[in-house]
Formats: sequence, C-alpha cells, structure tokens
Amino acid sequence: MKIKKICCIGAGYVGGPTMSVIAQKCPEIQVTVVDLNEARIASWNDADVKNIPIYEPGLSEVVSEARGRNLFFSTDVEKAIDEADMIFISVNTPTKTYGAGKGMAADLKYIELCARQIARVSKSDKIVVEKSTLPVRTAEAIKSILDNTGNGVRFQILSNPEFLAEGTAVEDLLNPDRILIGGDTTDEGQKAIEALVEVYANWVPKDKILTTNLWSSELSKLTANAFLAQRVSSINALSELCEKTGADVSEVAKAIGMDSRIGSKFLKASVGFGGSCFQKDILNLVYIAKAYGLHEVADYWEQVIIMNDHQKRRFANKIVSTLYNTVSGKKIAFLGWAFKKDTNDTRESAAIYVANDLINEQASICVFDPKVSETQILSDLNYLNSRNPDENRNSISVLDNPYEACKDSHAIAVLTEWDEFKTYDWEKIYNEMQKPAFVFDGRNVLDGKKLTEIGFIYKGIGA
Ligand code: NAD
Ligand code: UDX
Repeated sequence: MKIKKICCIGAGYVGGPTMSVIAQKCPEIQVTVVDLNEARIASWNDADVKNIPIYEPGLSEVVSEARGRNLFFSTDVEKAIDEADMIFISVNTPTKTYGAGKGMAADLKYIELCARQIARVSKSDKIVVEKSTLPVRTAEAIKSILDNTGNGVRFQILSNPEFLAEGTAVEDLLNPDRILIGGDTTDEGQKAIEALVEVYANWVPKDKILTTNLWSSELSKLTANAFLAQRVSSINALSELCEKTGADVSEVAKAIGMDSRIGSKFLKASVGFGGSCFQKDILNLVYIAKAYGLHEVADYWEQVIIMNDHQKRRFANKIVSTLYNTVSGKKIAFLGWAFKKDTNDTRESAAIYVANDLINEQASICVFDPKVSETQILSDLNYLNSRNPDENRNSISVLDNPYEACKDSHAIAVLTEWDEFKTYDWEKIYNEMQKPAFVFDGRNVLDGKKLTEIGFIYKGIGA
C-alpha cells in the first residue's frame, strides 16, 4: 500500500517538525497537521515563516519549502482524518495531575479522544501510528476503542516513537540514528509496517529502519529516555563528589567517556536535566513497573529523578550558602531559562525550580533568555503554585538585554548553555556588578579561568 495522504493530530514540538520533514522529503504525499489549538495553527500558517510557534534551527526553511505545496496546517481535524490513509497521533501525554497514578502515570485522555474521533470519522481503512510517547501496551487500548466504536472499517496500529531532541530536531529528523516501527505480527500488520517503512525510505537508509513487535517499540522509547537521563544523573551524582574531593567532573567525564563501552556523549554535568520528556517518561516507567509489582525495578529508575531533584536544589542551596547564607533582597541574574540551548521550550527547565527556591529565600531574580518571553517565565513560576502570581511578578523581572539583567546583581547564575553567553564582554559585566561578583555556572560553559582573572568568584558544577 502506497501512502498518499497523511494526517497528524497534534501540531506541537513533535508533530510540527516531524511532519514538516516528511512533507519536505516526500513531495508526493499530502501531509496535513491538525490541532485543536487555533492560535497554534494560526502561527504555523503565519505569512512570515519566522513566526511559526516553535523555534528550532533550520525549521522555518523546511516549512517554507513545503507549506502550501504538500504541507498544510489546519483546525479541521475531522476532514483531515477522513481523507488520510495514515494518521499519526502526536498529542501530548503529560504526567497525570489527578486520580490514580497522580504525579506518575501518563495521562492518556488526549490519546483516547483521538482514538474515539478517528473511529467516529473514518469511512475507509486506515493505519493509525502512535507517534506520542506511550506506556507499553497502549496500542491494545487504542485498538479496542477503534474496533468497538468505529464504522466497521479496518485499522492497523503501529508504534513509531520519535527520538528527536529539541534544539537539533531538524538535524535529528533528517539524519536519525534509527527509525523504530512496531506493528502487529499478522500479515496485515506487516503490510502496515511496510507502508510506513516506505515513507521513511524516501530519505533514511533502510538499514537504519528497525521493525519490531508493538510492545518492544512502545517500551523502547521509555527505555531510551530512561537510559539517557540516567547518564545525566550518574555524572551529576559524581559532580557532587568531585566538589568534595578536588576531582574535576569534566576531566572524569572525558576519562571515562574515552572507554568505547561507555562513550563520551551525554556526560555533561549540569544543574539538572529538564525538558518535557525525561522526568515524565521515567515516572511513567516507574509507575508501570509498580503496577506489575516490580518494586525493585521501580525504585532503581526512580533514583534517577531523585538525583535530578537533588541536583537542582543543591545548585540553589550553593548560591545561598556562598552568598554568606542570605540572598534576601539580593539581585541574582539568570542567564538562560530554556531547558537547553537552541529551543524556546521551558517545560521542566531546571531554571524554574532554582528560581523558585531562591524566591523562597527572598532573592530578586532578573532573567535574560534569548528566546523565552516574560509571559512564559511568569507562567512557568505560577504553575508551581508556590505563591500567588503577584508575589511572583514582584520577585522576578525579565529583560531583553543581558548586560542590563546582570547590572547591579550580586551573582549571575547560568541556567542554559546558550552559545552567545561565551561571547559577552565579561569585563563590562564585572564592572557593573556588586562586589564580590559571583558566577554560578550551572552548565560549565564559561571560561572559569578567564572570569577568575577578571575578578569574579567563579563556581562551576563538579569542580
Ligand atoms: P505539545 O504539547 O507540544 O503538542 C501536542 C499538541 O497536541 C498540542 O498543540 C495540543 O493542542 C494538541 N492536541 C491535544 N489533544 C488534541 C486533540 N484531541 N486533537 C487535536 N490536537 C490535540 O507536545 P509535544 O512536545 O509535541 O509531545 C507530543 C508527544 O511526543 C508526547 O507524547 C511526547 O512525550 C512525545 N515526544 C516529545 C518529544 C519532544 O522533544 N518534545 C520528543 C519525543 C517524543
Ligand atoms: C530527549 C531525548 O534526547 C530525545 O531522544 C527524546 O526524543 C526526547 O527527550 P530533549 O529533552 O529534547 O530530548 O533534549 P536532550 O538533549 O535529551 O536534553 C535533556 C536535558 O538533559 C536538557 O535539560 C539537557 O540540558 C540535559 N543534559 C543533556 C545534561 O544536563 N547533560 C548532558 O550531557 C545531556
């Protein structure tokens, strides 16, 4: 079966970039990305492609090549479902905030809504692809809904998890390490897998397209994120020991990373990992393990989160203790708010938690981030519900100039590793700060030696 029309439900960080690249690479396939969020769709359709809702290097170029040709963004969900041969579900699957599994399990209500809508609207056979990250065995639930509430048409369900990282989404999509497709072991299941393989084969070498059964594919996504996050927590755990012993975590990371069995990637000590995926997916894994009574398995993976929470808190505590045990009334400048560089995404960013801890200590925070707006920063803080929105507004200010943000501050905290921070005039920043002038580099991106020569008291992570 050759796919002619694709519909993707969910025009977010995954649906938008993924479908843009599919459309760019498969000009003969019509790709329609739909979302309930009208403002988001309007931004994807903005005449000025620079205003698309997601900042990713290279994305606006891909969108401008394909949009209007074979790539469309729309709020007409039913029409797009009706016309498509293949439907990707790319909606959010956040951690549940209510009921059983609150704070751990994935909330699948948006997934179920999609399944019910697909079943209701579809008048021809369709392949439904799980692109969202889902608990293992979700395909079973989707199949049950599709088969029991549909119009008698046949559905095949595939799992095709997305491995892109934000900030490098386009590059990751164009040159993926692998594409994973899980499907039913029946003949029809295998045909559906083949149809999706053919879509990716337009630009991905076949030996990088891995096919498995449904459950392996679903579980591999949670596992991949758990392993990646576990590396960050492992090196962060060692960073604390380095600070006590005179070892330097960057040197340790390099020394162990040269062992080809360990590898050098994902060993950068930091203020703690953030992003919409790692915490959510590990909590989900922990919840699944507990649900099967596998308590040792659950405890093992939960430790990755416990360590990450500790690392964020430790960073805030270190600022307070270094500033003579009080930050009350002191201005602390934050360089960066996004959870990593080259994205405007702030979900679960360490900056939010560090700011919250410092505001509890009555610090006054001034933030500069090249891509994150004041509205977003305030909404991130308000979401924690630690104090009322007015108090947050009085405790934090956001400036669009880094020099102004740092002026008169007692300390600078680097929360995101934006490249531009390295290029600033650090002498000028030093001259305009309170003395002694402290820099807490939560990303080890600045040149500590140079800053110390200028006069700063420089504190990196793990040294
Ligand atoms: P997102 O919140 O940016 O986007 C999801 C979109 O789905 C939203 O715009 C929302 O309005 C829309 N939506 C929800 N329910 C809908 C419905 N019934 N009909 C139409 N639209 C609906 O989320 P995201 O970051 O793109 O993540 C989506 C999924 O991909 C999640 O399961 C996530 O775990 C997974 N994932 C994310 C990343 C990442 O880097 N962000 C990477 C890999 C996998
Ligand atoms: C992650 C996975 O990498 C990706 O495969 C998956 O599809 C979605 O989740 P993402 O969260 O976008 O991607 O970014 P990633 O590069 O993994 O970084 C996650 C967090 O870990 C960031 O806060 C980053 O700063 C931090 N990190 C990463 C470190 O602190 N040290 C490292 O060595 C690597």
